[in-house]
Amino acid sequence: MWFPVMPIVGIDDLAIYVPKLYLDYKDFAEARGINPQKLEYGIGIKKMAIADTNQDSACMAANACLKLMQRNHLHPEDIGRVYVATESSLDESKAMNSFVIGMLEQIYGEGSFEHAGGIECKFACVSGSYALYDNANWIRAEENNGKAAVVIVSDIAKYDIGSSGEYTQGAGAVALLIRENPRLMAFDQKVASTTIKNEYDFYRPFGKETPLVNGSYSNLLYLISVRKAFDSYKEKAIKSGLIKLKDGESITDHIDFFAVHLPYRKMGEKALAYLLRHEWRHLPRWKYVTKEVGMQEPQPKDARGTIESILADTEFMKADEQFRRGFMQTSFYNEVYENKMATSLEASAIIGNLYTASMYMGLRSLLEFEFKKGTDLEGKRIGFGSYGSGSSAMVFSGLIQPQYKEIVKRMDLDEDIGPRQKLSMEEYERLHRNQRAFTDSVIRAHNEFVLVKLGGTTADKAGFREYNYVS
Ligand code: COA
Repeated sequence: MWFPVMPIVGIDDLAIYVPKLYLDYKDFAEARGINPQKLEYGIGIKKMAIADTNQDSACMAANACLKLMQRNHLHPEDIGRVYVATESSLDESKAMNSFVIGMLEQIYGEGSFEHAGGIECKFACVSGSYALYDNANWIRAEENNGKAAVVIVSDIAKYDIGSSGEYTQGAGAVALLIRENPRLMAFDQKVASTTIKNEYDFYRPFGKETPLVNGSYSNLLYLISVRKAFDSYKEKAIKSGLIKLKDGESITDHIDFFAVHLPYRKMGEKALAYLLRHEWRHLPRWKYVTKEVGMQEPQPKDARGTIESILADTEFMKADEQFRRGFMQTSFYNEVYENKMATSLEASAIIGNLYTASMYMGLRSLLEFEFKKGTDLEGKRIGFGSYGSGSSAMVFSGLIQPQYKEIVKRMDLDEDIGPRQKLSMEEYERLHRNQRAFTDSVIRAHNEFVLVKLGGTTADKAGFREYNYVS
């Protein structure tokens, strides 16, 4: 009997674009009367990337995609799909990737992408992961006619001035090249797992520029949703033989690195703590862990309760917080954190929240800084924990491929971002309030796409957006 062999598909390369304006955490803390240590250590932010007046998620996406194409000498005919995942949509109907195609065709010629396809995807911060998964399967199913797919994740994280979300802002895009026999990372097959539920932890009603957020609820939902998707991933990984557990082992022992959704750096650290507690509490090592923490892990009054009932159990929440902090001080946690996660958080601290792009910027950060540390990444497994409010989680994994060094050796975050300009709080607030005309940009664009025309003088041109490549 003949069994078809499924092609090996994954991320071949990735390119980033980050706006060149930033807000420094010390200026921000002073203006808002916050202790800067809270931002540096409690949130984990030093610089937040801020989009200029003539930038939006579409031109950031096009800039990242152009870099990816130029670096890999790709022509439009090599690409069969261009997907954009974002929660900073520009139009209720016209998809963001159509704007991106328009920009790219200024470089590659009118109609050069006509043969391709793609859509804009939305599900808060998780949609990029769905886009990757769907495009990987498009290639596995051999519907791609030998062509690659590009998935671009691009967002501007903007919260109300004075809100607690304001220090978790940021902006940027990551373009990912998906193809057969990738040089960087191959997706593990048949283990990707998801959860979905109707929730109101974070949402942005039509016409509103900033989201409505229940911060602590969104944090807890993130942890619980990713953990549930991870449970399902674990079941598939063990059943399929991808991961074989010996007595006393945890599946986390078989994942070499973790890249998770990063609304802010500290959230990554907390997500790892939550996952390790969940995976370790039934193992023999747990008694040594709790000994080092100095207390037993607390239990909620209603262990099978809802998220709301757990949040309302203030006694438990307080004790659990104490345990979580103690756990994050243990040698057990720190060994995993330092060896398997820390490098993925570096970029987040100097760029900020990128919504859909945050986990992929984390992947990029991990690859660059592990390589710079001299880690041999070949054959190492990266586990991904993606979360989108509203809410859905996706957990999947991939193996670093033998040719990865070709891609990773040229990664340099500082060089890729380029020289940055610090904004004063006054300039930042004017930008935030949209008080500067889009034609009055803070920085003169150079070698990138920017917005040059917005709307029109006649009603039928309302909503038109035109972009130019500025050399
Ligand atoms: N030095 C060091 N740390 C300090 C500090 C100081 N002087 N003052 C406070 N902190 C710590 C707190 O202890 C807390 O740490 P912990 O998380 O380990 O408990 C941390 O800073 C955050 O402070 P806290 O007051 O608990 O939260 P907040 O009101 O600042 O809100 C968010 C934080 C993330 C909830 C808020 O920024 C938000 O709503 N963001 C948008 C939504 C979001 O990103 N959700 C994530 C899931 S998608």
